[in-house]
Amino acid sequence: MKTDLLQSLNKELKEYIDDLYQQVTPLIFSDGDVDSQIVLIGEAPGKNEILQGRPFVGQAGKNLDEFINVLEIKKADLYITNVVKLRPYKINEQTGREANRTPTKKEVSIFSPYLIRELEIIKPKLVVTLGNIALKCITQDEKASIGLLHGSPMEVKFGNAEFSLFPLYHPASIIYKADLKDTYNADLYKLKDYLKSL
Ligand code: URA
Repeated sequence: MKTDLLQSLNKELKEYIDDLYQQVTPLIFSDGDVDSQIVLIGEAPGKNEILQGRPFVGQAGKNLDEFINVLEIKKADLYITNVVKLRPYKINEQTGREANRTPTKKEVSIFSPYLIRELEIIKPKLVVTLGNIALKCITQDEKASIGLLHGSPMEVKFGNAEFSLFPLYHPASIIYKADLKDTYNADLYKLKDYLKSL
């Protein structure tokens, strides 16, 4: 039932995006258990995700595996998705190659009505956002900041979906900002405790 609803939502989104961008655009949809009570939301797929056709693979997948190990849950038991389902990229002027970039506000606003409908189908109890983009999208508050809200659960209504939100730093940001690692780990242990109350 949820799978059928999701399939038709994804089909509608694909048609909408191809029409909007006037070209066939690869989209990466969710992975994991549609009946999970826990949804993990990242930012957008990168090059590796496009190549493998799934969210959070390559280095991002390794970061996520560490996260899942701490929580002592199984990856297959989670529902994993992204705010933006296409790969935002720019051309590196020196190499001429495509490089991943952060999604623009416009891209987020194109995809967020579909994310609302996705969460209305999945009906999670808990949503864990990874990084600022997913946090701002789910709270629908441009001023929401991961630096202030990380590790603090709150109740959220997103369309008709109602759930607890647990904001985390994006695991990739730990690679660039090593001083966040301790904070990130402390948040993960808070989340582990929080999961017991679900
Ligand atoms: N890969 C994803 O699918 N999402 C992210 O946010 C980062 C890497």
